[in-house]
Amino acid sequence: MTEMKKAEELIGYISKLNTFPKFGRVVRVVGLMIESQGPVSSVGDVCHIHLNNGKDSIILAEVVGFREEIVILMPYTSINDISSGCLVESTGKPLEIKVGMNLIGKVLDSMGNPIDKSALPKGLSTVSAEQEPPNVLSRKSINEKLAVGVKAIDGMLTVGNGQRVGIFAGSGVGKSTLLGMIARNTTADLNVIGLIGERGREVREFIERDLGPEGLSRTIVVAATSDQPALMRIKGAFTATAIAEYFRDKGMNVMLMMDSVTRVAMAQREIGLAVGEPPATRGYTPSVFSILPKLLERTGTNEVGAITAFYTVLVDGDDMNEPIADAVRGILDGHIVLDRTLANKGQYPAINVLKSVSRLMNHIASPEHVKAAEKLRELYYTYDKSEDLINIGAYKRGTSREIDEAIEFEPHITNYLKQSYKDNVNMEDSISELISLAPGGGSR
Ligand SMILES: Nc1ncnc2c1ncn2[C@@H]1O[C@H](COP(=O)(O)OP(=O)(O)OP(=O)(O)O)[C@@H](O)[C@H]1O
Ligand SMILES: [Mg+2]
Repeated sequence: MTEMKKAEELIGYISKLNTFPKFGRVVRVVGLMIESQGPVSSVGDVCHIHLNNGKDSIILAEVVGFREEIVILMPYTSINDISSGCLVESTGKPLEIKVGMNLIGKVLDSMGNPIDKSALPKGLSTVSAEQEPPNVLSRKSINEKLAVGVKAIDGMLTVGNGQRVGIFAGSGVGKSTLLGMIARNTTADLNVIGLIGERGREVREFIERDLGPEGLSRTIVVAATSDQPALMRIKGAFTATAIAEYFRDKGMNVMLMMDSVTRVAMAQREIGLAVGEPPATRGYTPSVFSILPKLLERTGTNEVGAITAFYTVLVDGDDMNEPIADAVRGILDGHIVLDRTLANKGQYPAINVLKSVSRLMNHIASPEHVKAAEKLRELYYTYDKSEDLINIGAYKRGTSREIDEAIEFEPHITNYLKQSYKDNVNMEDSISELISLAPGGGSR
């Protein structure tokens, strides 16, 4: 009897054995791509490539495609020591990272390791960097405001807890400064900031100058600089998102900021072109447009918590119809446009409220607040339309009651929208000031 049982146990064990070959061999290296015969794997799986350099070292690579029987891999690091015949071992799963409360205040690389090479703190949990977006039916609806401490946003473009917003701007218009302000001022429980494709110097400047010690103490930064391989830059975006998801699953309200999604798209284009995808719109390959919703849909609410997200998009010469800007704008629930003409005039933050929109504001702000914001927007629009005429003295007062009113209000509105990067204005004050500023809304 016991013999029978033993035999059954053994059969059970054998049937559970993974008999698929886990190993393969490098057959070719072309540029950044490594081709290997085997192992059996899926796209996205991480593989260890064992180097033949006598030092027992491995490098990490990821399966990015297949060509007939050949597995195409891309390395996470440089590939100096790879030679033909190196053993390729599949881990059978995508990249995993370690997450926990003890990471708050740390600056990490795309693999989730501290960038200063210090050891990871203890007590962290392992999560996969690639996750599915929350089920649409399990997402809580967004009906609470989230303060970001920036008057122009809290007052005119109110953001909901769990809303996803794009920040569209050219270079040097104040993206990093604005993200730093939001990180320091927001009432979210913690921030996760992904810095993708920036130069090394910019990462340091952002952490020291824009975020500051106070901002960093409630933030986890993931940085993938421009000198790193394309795959690492993409992983930086996925890792930052996975960290935010971990805290959302704990029921927290997380603020995720990613600077910039354009650089993520460019990294995916590099990979797409290298694996032989055809270039489509402006050289971007089809996979760029499939990766964007996959990444951006992961944030927002789930059944227990919320990730409010700000994604920056670089717009060349303020061309809002550039393909990445267009794709991102279609996925998100609002966009904030930073305008170079405002920055040149010294109006910071350079938010152009006429070109920006928060699609959820009407659901989450009080009717009085929405009405006041609409009225100010109308006045500002009227002024903006006639500004050239006014400035050259071609407009005569008394010609139009509407324009006269707009001229009277313009300095007050501009003054309201301006805010020093050092100031943190609480949301209630921003809203009550806005209501009292609007005609018929209070003191004016
Ligand atoms: N709120 C602000 N108050 C005053 N000056 C500002 C403000 N925001 C930005 N600036 C000015 O604009 C410059 C560029 O800002 P910032 O680095 O934030 O722009 P960026 O869009 O992140 O630039 P890049 O495209 O190079 O990343 C700053 O060095 C500063 O001089
Ligand atoms: Mg910047």
